[in-house]
Amino acid sequence: MKKFYITTPLYYVNSKPHIGHSYTTVACDVVSRFMRQAGHDVFFMTGTDEHGEKIEKATIERGFKPGEEQKFVDEIVPVFKDLWAKLNIKYDHFIRTTDAYHVRAVQALLGKLYKDGKIYKKVYNGWFCVPCETFWSDSQAPGGICPDCKRTVEKLDESNYFFKMSEYQGWLVDHINKNPGFIKPDFRKNEVLGFLKEPLLDLCISRPKSRMNWGIEIPFDKDYVTYVWFDALINYISGIGYPDDAERFKEYWPCDYHVMAKDILRHHAVYWPIMLKAAGIEPPKTIFAHGWWVFKGEKMSKSKGNVVDPFDMISRYGIDAYRYFLLREISFGMDGSFGEEAFISRYNSDLANDLGNLLSRTLSMVEKYFEGKVPDAGKGAASKGRGEELKRAALALGAELEKAVPVFDFIGALTKIWEAIDIANKYIEDSKPWSLAKEKKTAELSVMMYDLLETLRIISVVIKAFMPATADNIRSQLGLGDSAAAGLSEAAKWGMLKAGSKINKANPLFPRIEAKA
Ligand code: MSP
Repeated sequence: MKKFYITTPLYYVNSKPHIGHSYTTVACDVVSRFMRQAGHDVFFMTGTDEHGEKIEKATIERGFKPGEEQKFVDEIVPVFKDLWAKLNIKYDHFIRTTDAYHVRAVQALLGKLYKDGKIYKKVYNGWFCVPCETFWSDSQAPGGICPDCKRTVEKLDESNYFFKMSEYQGWLVDHINKNPGFIKPDFRKNEVLGFLKEPLLDLCISRPKSRMNWGIEIPFDKDYVTYVWFDALINYISGIGYPDDAERFKEYWPCDYHVMAKDILRHHAVYWPIMLKAAGIEPPKTIFAHGWWVFKGEKMSKSKGNVVDPFDMISRYGIDAYRYFLLREISFGMDGSFGEEAFISRYNSDLANDLGNLLSRTLSMVEKYFEGKVPDAGKGAASKGRGEELKRAALALGAELEKAVPVFDFIGALTKIWEAIDIANKYIEDSKPWSLAKEKKTAELSVMMYDLLETLRIISVVIKAFMPATADNIRSQLGLGDSAAAGLSEAAKWGMLKAGSKINKANPLFPRIEAKA
């Protein structure tokens, strides 16, 4: 079985998760569910980033005392886990940077790099942006303003440890150029190459405990803790066994996809591969940076307070509608704005009308004309016209999705599924099964109903990664077991529904939402 390893970033636990975090996690969940369904041995990891100045500050702001950071993060982590459970996220491992094995891995890697002469000490004189946890030089932060978030940066003047990142600039540029799949989408790769046109500075990887205590102690100097990014990135290898379990590590490394938004592309596409290279470890295969959900033109973020609450959206519209909207609304890679009106309109048109109605009217007709049993389409009876078109479109879905989903083309994948749904709905409108029934054209009617039922069965297979509960619901209404065992190969087969088996019509999949005035 082919291994497939995919990761989300480790989210900061300075406050509750918002739609942006759920976006990356849902996207990775869909890809990993899909790869599993296609027969791969998948390892999907997510988790939380719990050290650093940001968390130290949040601890105090939330009414905890200095030194109570662990207590504070222990309260926030379950909120993330709870959201992932509610969103039906099926991760294989949840890593916390405060986990003991992760702490050991960070210290092991630091120790190795220090021993190999890749880390040195000097006085640091420059700027630091607390919200971004990023160091900037004078020329990068003119006027004391962070070039990323435009907030005021702090002046630092202290002795610190540095990682010799600059030594690897040439190697990295070369690696990016030789491996066109390393940074995706392509325009992001060009941004990174643009950034690498300027000389790369060595990375400050420590904070003196006298100023910031909440971090992993530097193994060769107990007066310092590790810079939070240097600590957090290592999760991608510590979570699969580095350095203790070489076997397991070898199984999944190099990672297939590190997924994140563009705000942290540089950390993933520059710092991380260089850290690995310096330690003699292969770089990941692909780093995929998607866009931002924006609100009135600004990035949604906790600190700006303009966030959409995923818990609230799920409780009002349901899990699968939320998962669907996130991936259908904006092209993965680009920015997009979140609007509840757009959500409701997509819900009503795509989910309630197109998919929901197709299922409920098909099943109603099977109840009415065939006593709720899958009709016998007759040996060799061929579907014609629209029926033929529908069968072709439905049977092609598995292969279409195999092209689209693994490269994060969610809109492409969903559009193909909805094209088949459209054909099915047109088939009903054109062929008017109610007239066929009146005219007692039972053979024709049987073929048509069978075409529709089989298409719905195939749809239940191909939407499973996107909307797992809806897939199960459709299967149960078709009289099939749940989708747990439904591999993608079942989407390429026709005729799996047995004539005479009972269907099980239930409530509408997606009851219409009446828009608020
Ligand atoms: N802790 C670091 C990551 C360390 S990874 C080794 C961090 N955490 S974060 O909590 O700020 O999460 C950033 C990530 O959350 C983004 O890269 C993206 O995956 C997701 N998003 C946060 N806000 C977002 C939007 N408004 N839109 C889309 N995704 C967003 O950075």
